[in-house]
Amino acid sequence: MSGHHEVKVLARRRYGCFVEVVMEASADFTAEPGQFVHVCCEGPGLILRRPYSLYGVRHGTVSLLVREVGAGSAWLCAVDVGYEIDLLGPLGRGFTVKGRGRHALIAGGTGMATMRFLASRLLEYGEDTTVFWGVDGEEECGGLDAKLAGEFDLHMATMDGSLGYRGSVLDCFLAKGAREYDFIYACGPRGMLAGLAEINARGTMADLQVCMEERMACGIGACRGCVVPAASPAGGYLTVCRDGPVFDGRELDWQRINGEI
Ligand SMILES: Cc1cc2nc3c(=O)[nH]c(=O)nc-3n(C[C@H](O)[C@H](O)[C@H](O)COP(=O)(O)OP(=O)(O)OC[C@H]3O[C@@H](n4cnc5c(N)ncnc54)[C@H](O)[C@@H]3O)c2cc1C
Ligand code: FES
Repeated sequence: MSGHHEVKVLARRRYGCFVEVVMEASADFTAEPGQFVHVCCEGPGLILRRPYSLYGVRHGTVSLLVREVGAGSAWLCAVDVGYEIDLLGPLGRGFTVKGRGRHALIAGGTGMATMRFLASRLLEYGEDTTVFWGVDGEEECGGLDAKLAGEFDLHMATMDGSLGYRGSVLDCFLAKGAREYDFIYACGPRGMLAGLAEINARGTMADLQVCMEERMACGIGACRGCVVPAASPAGGYLTVCRDGPVFDGRELDWQRINGEI
């Protein structure tokens, strides 16, 4: 149920550069994979909430997978067990499971957060699900890859070759039979998503949904600080926080997005 939630931190687990924050949620907290929560991070100068994809929602708990990049995420990575966090959400439009078939989930870095929630939902539906995860190197994961490989079929790609395929996650996806999938879902840096949209238009031709991670302010469609170019003939822009963060690949103008990288 969307709205304000005060949630108690139950556990905090570090894996390399990532911290899983598990919180107690009320029984009526339900969400779709791809939706996010807007977190009130505390500290000097932290006025705006910070958006985080839902990593897991189950058995009265909600969890996030956080990478420390600045003051807000540093606070979240260090928050004490027992502390109550102020969350707004779940917000935005999540992924849609449109049919049965082979599903490829492609994550770059923290894009794994939303992909893990989606993979668990697809597996509940009994769907054929494969996850591809690209990171810089083994140290970044700190064993999280092994834990997730116990949950679903996972192919790792690392730029330094320290784990799995050596190269980008898109090259890994192409090397491991990109054309065999009916549905593709992706979350990661803009460049990765634009590259995937191009690969898909050139030949894969699967149904593509992407989750965009733009910088946000209000998180509810009011400030237009998170817009991305739309593919509609009239052009224009869509808000990531309210129209997204999940978009059908054809809804966005990838040429304009590429030009803005
Ligand atoms: C819908 C959505 C879902 C997200 N899900 C996750 C998640 O599951 N896990 C996770 O770790 N992060 C996620 N993010 C990114 C996360 O919101 C930012 O990392 C966080 O707001 C940074 O706050 P900060 O105070 O630590 O850093 P800041 O001090 O605000 O920024 C530190 C640095 O990070 C850069 N930065 C901040 N936000 C973003 C962004 N969205 N994209 C690219 N660069 C950015 C800034 O330009 C700056 O260089 C998500 C973002 C969105 C919009
Ligand atoms: S963050 Fe304000 S409109 Fe999206």
